Amino acid sequence: MKSFASRLPRDFRKLPLAERIATLKNLVGHWEAPPPELTEALVETSVGWFEVPLGIVVGLPLDEGSVDVPLAVEEPSVIAAATYAARLFSGGKVTSWATQAVMTAQVWLEAPADVEFETADAELVTQTLAKKFDAGREALTQVARQGLASMEKRGGGLRDLRFRAVEGMPPLWVVEADVEVCDAMGANLLNTLAEALAPALEQHLGLRRLMAILSNDASHRRAGATVELKVTALNKTSLPGAEAGRRIALASAAAQRDPGRAVTNNKGVMNGVTSLALATGNDTRALEASVHCWASRAGVYRPLTTWSMNGDTLTGVIELPVPLGTVGGALMHPRARDALTLLGNPSAHDLARIAAVLGLAQNFAALFALTGEGIQRGHMALHQRRLDFEKGHR
Ligand code: MEV
Repeated sequence: MKSFASRLPRDFRKLPLAERIATLKNLVGHWEAPPPELTEALVETSVGWFEVPLGIVVGLPLDEGSVDVPLAVEEPSVIAAATYAARLFSGGKVTSWATQAVMTAQVWLEAPADVEFETADAELVTQTLAKKFDAGREALTQVARQGLASMEKRGGGLRDLRFRAVEGMPPLWVVEADVEVCDAMGANLLNTLAEALAPALEQHLGLRRLMAILSNDASHRRAGATVELKVTALNKTSLPGAEAGRRIALASAAAQRDPGRAVTNNKGVMNGVTSLALATGNDTRALEASVHCWASRAGVYRPLTTWSMNGDTLTGVIELPVPLGTVGGALMHPRARDALTLLGNPSAHDLARIAAVLGLAQNFAALFALTGEGIQRGHMALHQRRLDFEKGHR
Protein backbone atom coordinates (compact mmCIF):
# COMPACT_ATOMS: atom_id res chain seq x y z
CA MET A 1 0.00 0.00 0.00
CA LYS A 2 1.47 3.32 -1.09
CA SER A 3 2.10 5.79 1.73
CA PHE A 4 1.11 9.41 1.36
CA ALA A 5 2.59 12.63 2.74
CA SER A 6 0.88 16.02 2.79
CA ARG A 7 3.02 18.53 0.92
CA LEU A 8 1.19 21.76 1.68
CA PRO A 9 2.13 23.95 4.66
CA ARG A 10 -0.09 23.54 7.72
CA ASP A 11 -1.04 27.22 7.62
CA PHE A 12 -1.96 27.04 3.90
CA ARG A 13 -5.50 28.26 4.58
CA LYS A 14 -4.17 31.44 6.21
CA LEU A 15 -2.16 32.46 3.12
CA PRO A 16 -3.69 35.07 0.79
CA LEU A 17 -5.46 33.55 -2.25
CA ALA A 18 -2.73 34.58 -4.71
CA GLU A 19 -0.08 32.89 -2.55
CA ARG A 20 -2.17 29.74 -2.21
CA ILE A 21 -2.42 29.51 -6.00
CA ALA A 22 1.31 30.22 -6.41
CA THR A 23 2.11 27.44 -3.88
CA LEU A 24 -0.06 24.99 -5.81
CA LYS A 25 1.42 25.93 -9.18
CA ASN A 26 4.81 25.27 -7.72
CA LEU A 27 3.78 21.88 -6.37
CA VAL A 28 1.67 20.57 -9.24
CA GLY A 29 3.59 22.25 -12.08
CA HIS A 30 0.52 24.20 -13.29
CA TRP A 31 -2.97 25.05 -12.11
CA GLU A 32 -4.87 25.72 -15.28
CA ALA A 33 -8.47 26.60 -16.00
CA PRO A 34 -9.95 24.33 -18.70
CA PRO A 35 -9.91 25.72 -22.27
CA PRO A 36 -13.40 27.05 -23.19
CA GLU A 37 -13.76 24.70 -26.18
CA LEU A 38 -13.21 21.57 -24.05
CA THR A 39 -16.93 21.74 -23.16
CA GLU A 40 -17.63 20.80 -26.80
CA ALA A 41 -15.71 17.56 -26.41
CA LEU A 42 -17.48 16.72 -23.16
CA VAL A 43 -21.19 17.48 -23.74
CA GLU A 44 -23.73 18.24 -26.47
CA THR A 45 -24.99 21.79 -27.04
CA SER A 46 -22.42 23.21 -24.64
CA VAL A 47 -22.56 26.89 -23.69
CA GLY A 48 -19.71 27.14 -21.19
CA TRP A 49 -18.65 26.02 -17.72
CA PHE A 50 -20.52 26.19 -14.44
CA GLU A 51 -17.82 26.99 -11.90
CA VAL A 52 -17.87 25.56 -8.38
CA PRO A 53 -15.35 26.65 -5.72
CA LEU A 54 -12.33 24.38 -5.36
CA GLY A 55 -10.55 24.21 -1.99
CA ILE A 56 -8.13 21.91 -0.19
CA VAL A 57 -8.24 19.98 3.07
CA VAL A 58 -4.58 20.08 4.08
CA GLY A 59 -3.05 17.10 5.86
CA LEU A 60 -5.91 14.60 6.12
CA PRO A 61 -4.40 11.65 8.07
CA LEU A 62 -4.31 8.41 6.08
CA ASP A 63 -2.95 5.45 8.04
CA GLU A 64 0.75 6.19 8.65
CA GLY A 65 0.76 9.21 6.32
CA SER A 66 -1.37 12.18 5.34
CA VAL A 67 -2.74 13.67 2.15
CA ASP A 68 -3.89 17.03 0.76
CA VAL A 69 -7.43 16.57 -0.53
CA PRO A 70 -9.00 18.87 -3.15
CA LEU A 71 -12.78 19.34 -2.84
CA ALA A 72 -15.11 21.02 -5.35
CA VAL A 73 -18.13 22.25 -3.41
CA GLU A 74 -20.36 25.30 -3.08
CA GLU A 75 -21.37 24.77 0.60
CA PRO A 76 -19.29 27.15 2.76
CA SER A 77 -18.71 24.92 5.80
CA VAL A 78 -17.61 21.67 4.13
CA ILE A 79 -13.88 22.32 3.72
CA ALA A 80 -13.64 24.17 7.03
CA ALA A 81 -15.29 21.24 8.83
CA ALA A 82 -13.08 18.59 7.22
CA THR A 83 -9.98 20.66 7.95
CA TYR A 84 -10.98 20.89 11.61
CA ALA A 85 -11.58 17.13 11.80
CA ALA A 86 -8.30 16.41 9.98
CA ARG A 87 -6.45 18.28 12.74
CA LEU A 88 -8.17 16.25 15.47
CA PHE A 89 -7.75 12.96 13.58
CA SER A 90 -4.00 13.58 13.31
CA GLY A 91 -3.81 13.17 17.10
CA GLY A 92 -5.59 9.79 16.88
CA LYS A 93 -5.15 6.51 15.03
CA VAL A 94 -6.57 6.30 11.50
CA THR A 95 -6.65 3.08 9.48
CA SER A 96 -8.27 2.53 6.09
CA TRP A 97 -8.89 -0.31 3.64
CA ALA A 98 -10.44 -0.93 0.24
CA THR A 99 -11.55 -4.01 -1.67
CA GLN A 100 -10.59 -4.81 -5.25
CA ALA A 101 -12.46 -2.61 -7.76
CA VAL A 102 -15.12 -5.03 -8.96
CA MET A 103 -18.12 -3.72 -10.96
CA THR A 104 -21.01 -5.65 -12.51
CA ALA A 105 -22.45 -5.55 -16.04
CA GLN A 106 -26.01 -6.79 -16.62
CA VAL A 107 -27.68 -8.19 -19.73
CA TRP A 108 -31.46 -8.35 -19.28
CA LEU A 109 -33.27 -10.94 -21.36
CA GLU A 110 -36.93 -11.69 -22.11
CA ALA A 111 -38.71 -14.55 -23.85
CA PRO A 112 -38.91 -14.56 -27.67
CA ALA A 113 -41.95 -12.66 -29.04
CA ASP A 114 -43.82 -15.83 -30.04
CA VAL A 115 -43.50 -17.59 -26.66
CA GLU A 116 -45.90 -17.07 -23.75
CA PHE A 117 -45.14 -18.57 -20.36
CA GLU A 118 -47.62 -19.46 -17.68
CA THR A 119 -46.46 -18.69 -14.13
CA ALA A 120 -46.40 -22.43 -13.50
CA ASP A 121 -43.91 -22.97 -16.36
CA ALA A 122 -41.48 -20.29 -15.31
CA GLU A 123 -39.40 -22.33 -12.86
CA LEU A 124 -38.98 -25.22 -15.25
CA VAL A 125 -37.99 -22.90 -18.09
CA THR A 126 -35.43 -21.19 -15.84
CA GLN A 127 -33.93 -24.55 -14.90
CA THR A 128 -33.55 -25.46 -18.59
CA LEU A 129 -32.03 -22.06 -19.36
CA ALA A 130 -29.60 -22.35 -16.42
CA LYS A 131 -28.40 -25.70 -17.81
CA LYS A 132 -27.95 -24.16 -21.27
CA PHE A 133 -26.05 -21.27 -19.70
CA ASP A 134 -23.73 -23.65 -17.87
CA ALA A 135 -23.13 -25.64 -21.04
CA GLY A 136 -22.18 -22.44 -22.89
CA ARG A 137 -20.23 -20.87 -20.05
CA GLU A 138 -16.85 -21.53 -21.68
CA ALA A 139 -17.83 -19.90 -24.98
CA LEU A 140 -19.54 -16.97 -23.26
CA THR A 141 -16.48 -16.43 -21.08
CA GLN A 142 -14.38 -16.25 -24.25
CA VAL A 143 -16.68 -13.54 -25.67
CA ALA A 144 -16.37 -11.56 -22.44
CA ARG A 145 -12.58 -12.00 -22.31
CA GLN A 146 -12.17 -10.67 -25.85
CA GLY A 147 -13.87 -7.44 -24.81
CA LEU A 148 -11.71 -7.22 -21.70
CA ALA A 149 -8.31 -7.99 -23.23
CA SER A 150 -6.69 -4.65 -22.34
CA MET A 151 -8.08 -4.80 -18.78
CA GLU A 152 -6.74 -8.34 -18.37
CA LYS A 153 -3.29 -7.06 -19.38
CA ARG A 154 -3.52 -4.57 -16.51
CA GLY A 155 -4.31 -7.34 -14.04
CA GLY A 156 -8.08 -6.94 -14.08
CA GLY A 157 -10.77 -8.66 -16.13
CA LEU A 158 -13.63 -11.10 -15.73
CA ARG A 159 -14.17 -12.44 -12.21
CA ASP A 160 -17.58 -14.10 -12.47
CA LEU A 161 -20.38 -14.76 -14.95
CA ARG A 162 -23.81 -15.83 -13.65
CA PHE A 163 -27.35 -16.36 -14.77
CA ARG A 164 -30.52 -15.90 -12.75
CA ALA A 165 -34.23 -15.39 -13.13
CA VAL A 166 -35.85 -12.25 -11.75
CA GLU A 167 -39.24 -13.15 -10.36
CA GLY A 168 -42.41 -11.69 -11.84
CA MET A 169 -44.53 -11.91 -14.96
CA PRO A 170 -43.70 -11.71 -17.79
CA PRO A 171 -40.52 -13.60 -16.88
CA LEU A 172 -37.14 -11.87 -17.07
CA TRP A 173 -33.64 -13.27 -16.79
CA VAL A 174 -30.37 -11.49 -16.21
CA VAL A 175 -26.79 -12.47 -16.90
CA GLU A 176 -24.28 -10.64 -14.72
CA ALA A 177 -20.56 -10.27 -15.37
CA ASP A 178 -18.33 -9.16 -12.48
CA VAL A 179 -15.24 -7.37 -13.72
CA GLU A 180 -12.17 -6.13 -11.90
CA VAL A 181 -11.68 -2.67 -13.41
CA CYS A 182 -8.37 -1.66 -11.73
CA ASP A 183 -8.02 2.15 -11.82
CA ALA A 184 -10.99 2.84 -14.11
CA MET A 185 -14.43 3.84 -12.90
CA GLY A 186 -15.46 1.17 -15.36
CA ALA A 187 -18.84 2.36 -16.71
CA ASN A 188 -17.74 2.56 -20.34
CA LEU A 189 -15.93 -0.74 -20.24
CA LEU A 190 -18.86 -2.54 -18.63
CA ASN A 191 -21.44 -1.05 -20.98
CA THR A 192 -19.35 -2.15 -23.97
CA LEU A 193 -18.96 -5.61 -22.45
CA ALA A 194 -22.70 -5.93 -21.76
CA GLU A 195 -23.49 -4.99 -25.36
CA ALA A 196 -20.92 -7.44 -26.70
CA LEU A 197 -22.33 -10.26 -24.55
CA ALA A 198 -25.98 -9.62 -25.45
CA PRO A 199 -26.03 -11.14 -28.98
CA ALA A 200 -24.05 -14.20 -27.81
CA LEU A 201 -26.55 -14.71 -25.00
CA GLU A 202 -29.55 -14.26 -27.30
CA GLN A 203 -28.18 -16.88 -29.61
CA HIS A 204 -27.14 -19.29 -26.90
CA LEU A 205 -30.21 -19.09 -24.70
CA GLY A 206 -32.83 -18.40 -27.38
CA LEU A 207 -33.97 -15.28 -25.50
CA ARG A 208 -34.37 -11.65 -26.56
CA ARG A 209 -32.21 -8.84 -25.23
CA LEU A 210 -34.17 -6.22 -23.32
CA MET A 211 -31.22 -4.06 -22.28
CA ALA A 212 -27.48 -4.25 -21.60
CA ILE A 213 -25.89 -1.88 -19.10
CA LEU A 214 -23.68 -1.82 -16.01
CA SER A 215 -25.25 -1.95 -12.56
CA ASN A 216 -24.48 1.08 -10.42
CA ASP A 217 -24.70 -1.13 -7.36
CA ALA A 218 -21.00 -1.03 -6.44
CA SER A 219 -21.33 -3.09 -3.25
CA HIS A 220 -18.35 -5.18 -4.40
CA ARG A 221 -16.15 -2.09 -4.56
CA ARG A 222 -16.05 -0.81 -1.03
CA ALA A 223 -13.74 1.12 1.23
CA GLY A 224 -13.73 1.77 4.92
CA ALA A 225 -11.87 3.52 7.70
CA THR A 226 -11.62 3.57 11.47
CA VAL A 227 -10.48 6.38 13.73
CA GLU A 228 -9.68 6.09 17.42
CA LEU A 229 -9.62 9.35 19.33
CA LYS A 230 -8.72 9.88 22.98
CA VAL A 231 -11.52 11.92 24.48
CA THR A 232 -9.02 14.38 25.96
CA ALA A 233 -8.49 15.56 22.37
CA LEU A 234 -12.17 16.62 22.33
CA ASN A 235 -11.95 18.84 25.42
CA LYS A 236 -13.55 22.21 24.88
CA THR A 237 -14.12 24.95 27.40
CA SER A 238 -17.88 24.45 27.11
CA LEU A 239 -17.87 20.63 27.16
CA PRO A 240 -15.40 18.07 28.62
CA GLY A 241 -14.09 15.60 26.02
CA ALA A 242 -15.69 12.55 27.64
CA GLU A 243 -19.11 14.22 27.47
CA ALA A 244 -18.49 15.31 23.85
CA GLY A 245 -17.61 11.69 22.98
CA ARG A 246 -20.70 10.33 24.76
CA ARG A 247 -22.94 12.76 22.87
CA ILE A 248 -21.36 11.86 19.48
CA ALA A 249 -21.94 8.14 20.19
CA LEU A 250 -25.55 8.88 21.14
CA ALA A 251 -26.09 10.91 17.97
CA SER A 252 -24.71 7.91 16.07
CA ALA A 253 -27.25 5.66 17.83
CA ALA A 254 -30.00 8.09 16.80
CA ALA A 255 -28.99 7.60 13.14
CA GLN A 256 -29.01 3.81 13.63
CA ARG A 257 -32.54 3.95 15.01
CA ASP A 258 -34.11 6.49 12.67
CA PRO A 259 -33.83 6.63 8.86
CA GLY A 260 -34.83 10.31 8.97
CA ARG A 261 -31.62 11.06 10.87
CA ALA A 262 -29.56 8.47 8.92
CA VAL A 263 -30.24 10.33 5.65
CA THR A 264 -28.90 13.60 7.10
CA ASN A 265 -25.94 11.80 8.68
CA ASN A 266 -25.07 10.37 5.26
CA LYS A 267 -25.60 13.70 3.54
CA GLY A 268 -22.84 15.01 5.80
CA VAL A 269 -20.56 12.10 4.84
CA MET A 270 -21.24 12.77 1.14
CA ASN A 271 -20.46 16.48 1.58
CA GLY A 272 -16.86 15.36 1.53
CA VAL A 273 -16.96 12.24 -0.64
CA THR A 274 -19.02 13.76 -3.48
CA SER A 275 -16.90 16.93 -3.48
CA LEU A 276 -13.77 14.78 -3.86
CA ALA A 277 -15.46 12.87 -6.70
CA LEU A 278 -16.28 16.14 -8.48
CA ALA A 279 -12.78 17.55 -7.99
CA THR A 280 -11.25 14.40 -9.51
CA GLY A 281 -13.55 14.41 -12.55
CA ASN A 282 -15.62 11.42 -11.42
CA ASP A 283 -19.32 10.65 -11.90
CA THR A 284 -20.95 11.94 -8.70
CA ARG A 285 -24.39 10.51 -9.58
CA ALA A 286 -23.03 6.98 -9.93
CA LEU A 287 -21.23 7.35 -6.61
CA GLU A 288 -24.31 8.60 -4.76
CA ALA A 289 -26.65 6.01 -6.30
CA SER A 290 -24.31 3.24 -5.16
CA VAL A 291 -23.88 4.69 -1.67
CA HIS A 292 -27.62 5.01 -1.03
CA CYS A 293 -28.19 1.50 -2.36
CA TRP A 294 -25.56 0.24 0.12
CA ALA A 295 -27.11 2.25 2.96
CA SER A 296 -30.44 0.50 2.27
CA ARG A 297 -29.06 -3.02 2.01
CA ALA A 298 -30.90 -4.22 5.13
CA GLY A 299 -34.23 -3.03 3.70
CA VAL A 300 -34.05 0.05 5.95
CA TYR A 301 -31.95 3.15 5.26
CA ARG A 302 -28.97 3.09 7.65
CA PRO A 303 -26.03 5.39 8.45
CA LEU A 304 -22.69 4.79 6.72
CA THR A 305 -20.86 5.51 9.97
CA THR A 306 -20.97 4.41 13.60
CA TRP A 307 -19.40 6.02 16.67
CA SER A 308 -18.93 4.32 20.02
CA MET A 309 -17.23 5.04 23.33
CA ASN A 310 -14.91 2.53 24.91
CA GLY A 311 -13.30 3.80 28.13
CA ASP A 312 -11.54 7.02 27.21
CA THR A 313 -11.59 6.31 23.46
CA LEU A 314 -14.13 7.40 20.88
CA THR A 315 -14.07 5.09 17.85
CA GLY A 316 -15.59 5.97 14.48
CA VAL A 317 -16.10 3.48 11.66
CA ILE A 318 -17.22 4.02 8.05
CA GLU A 319 -17.88 1.60 5.19
CA LEU A 320 -19.26 2.54 1.78
CA PRO A 321 -18.99 1.69 -1.92
CA VAL A 322 -16.56 3.99 -3.76
CA PRO A 323 -16.83 3.63 -7.55
CA LEU A 324 -14.23 6.30 -8.39
CA GLY A 325 -11.59 6.04 -11.11
CA THR A 326 -8.20 7.68 -11.49
CA VAL A 327 -7.88 7.11 -15.25
CA GLY A 328 -10.32 7.62 -18.10
CA GLY A 329 -12.53 10.11 -19.89
CA ALA A 330 -13.30 12.86 -17.42
CA LEU A 331 -9.60 13.36 -16.79
CA MET A 332 -9.60 15.42 -19.97
CA HIS A 333 -10.50 18.20 -17.52
CA PRO A 334 -7.16 19.75 -16.50
CA ARG A 335 -8.45 20.56 -13.00
CA ALA A 336 -9.20 16.87 -12.41
CA ARG A 337 -5.69 15.93 -13.55
CA ASP A 338 -4.19 18.58 -11.27
CA ALA A 339 -6.35 17.35 -8.39
CA LEU A 340 -4.95 13.84 -8.81
CA THR A 341 -1.40 15.20 -9.00
CA LEU A 342 -2.00 17.10 -5.77
CA LEU A 343 -3.34 13.91 -4.19
CA GLY A 344 -0.03 12.19 -5.06
CA ASN A 345 -1.38 10.27 -8.10
CA PRO A 346 -3.35 7.68 -6.13
CA SER A 347 -4.56 4.41 -7.61
CA ALA A 348 -8.35 3.97 -7.54
CA HIS A 349 -7.77 1.74 -4.52
CA ASP A 350 -5.96 4.56 -2.67
CA LEU A 351 -8.53 7.15 -3.76
CA ALA A 352 -11.24 4.95 -2.25
CA ARG A 353 -9.36 4.84 1.07
CA ILE A 354 -8.93 8.62 1.00
CA ALA A 355 -12.68 9.01 0.33
CA ALA A 356 -13.51 6.77 3.29
CA VAL A 357 -11.33 8.71 5.75
CA LEU A 358 -12.64 12.00 4.38
CA GLY A 359 -16.26 10.84 4.79
CA LEU A 360 -15.56 9.82 8.37
CA ALA A 361 -13.84 13.15 9.10
CA GLN A 362 -16.73 15.09 7.60
CA ASN A 363 -19.22 13.10 9.68
CA PHE A 364 -17.18 13.60 12.84
CA ALA A 365 -17.03 17.37 12.33
CA ALA A 366 -20.80 17.52 11.82
CA LEU A 367 -21.60 15.43 14.92
CA PHE A 368 -19.07 17.26 17.08
CA ALA A 369 -20.62 20.60 16.15
CA LEU A 370 -24.25 19.43 16.26
CA THR A 371 -23.99 17.81 19.69
CA GLY A 372 -21.86 20.70 20.97
CA GLU A 373 -22.63 24.30 20.21
CA GLY A 374 -24.75 23.52 17.10
CA ILE A 375 -23.71 24.22 13.53
CA GLN A 376 -25.37 27.57 12.97
CA ARG A 377 -22.71 29.64 14.76
CA GLY A 378 -19.92 28.39 12.46
CA HIS A 379 -22.21 28.53 9.44
CA MET A 380 -23.23 32.11 10.15
CA ALA A 381 -19.59 33.22 10.42
CA LEU A 382 -18.96 31.72 6.96
CA HIS A 383 -22.20 33.19 5.65
CA GLN A 384 -21.02 36.62 6.77
CA ARG A 385 -18.14 36.33 4.27
CA ARG A 386 -20.68 36.01 1.47
CA LEU A 387 -22.60 39.02 2.70
CA ASP A 388 -19.39 41.08 2.91
CA PHE A 389 -18.48 40.00 -0.62
CA GLU A 390 -21.92 40.93 -1.94
CA LYS A 391 -21.76 44.32 -0.23
CA GLY A 392 -18.39 45.04 -1.83
CA HIS A 393 -19.76 44.17 -5.28
CA ARG A 394 -23.01 46.10 -5.10
C1 MEV B 1 -24.94 19.83 6.36
O1 MEV B 1 -24.51 20.00 5.01
C2 MEV B 1 -24.59 18.45 6.86
C3 MEV B 1 -25.11 18.10 8.25
O2 MEV B 1 -26.51 18.28 8.28
C4 MEV B 1 -24.74 16.66 8.50
C5 MEV B 1 -25.34 16.07 9.77
O3 MEV B 1 -26.39 16.57 10.23
O4 MEV B 1 -24.76 15.08 10.24
C6 MEV B 1 -24.54 19.03 9.30
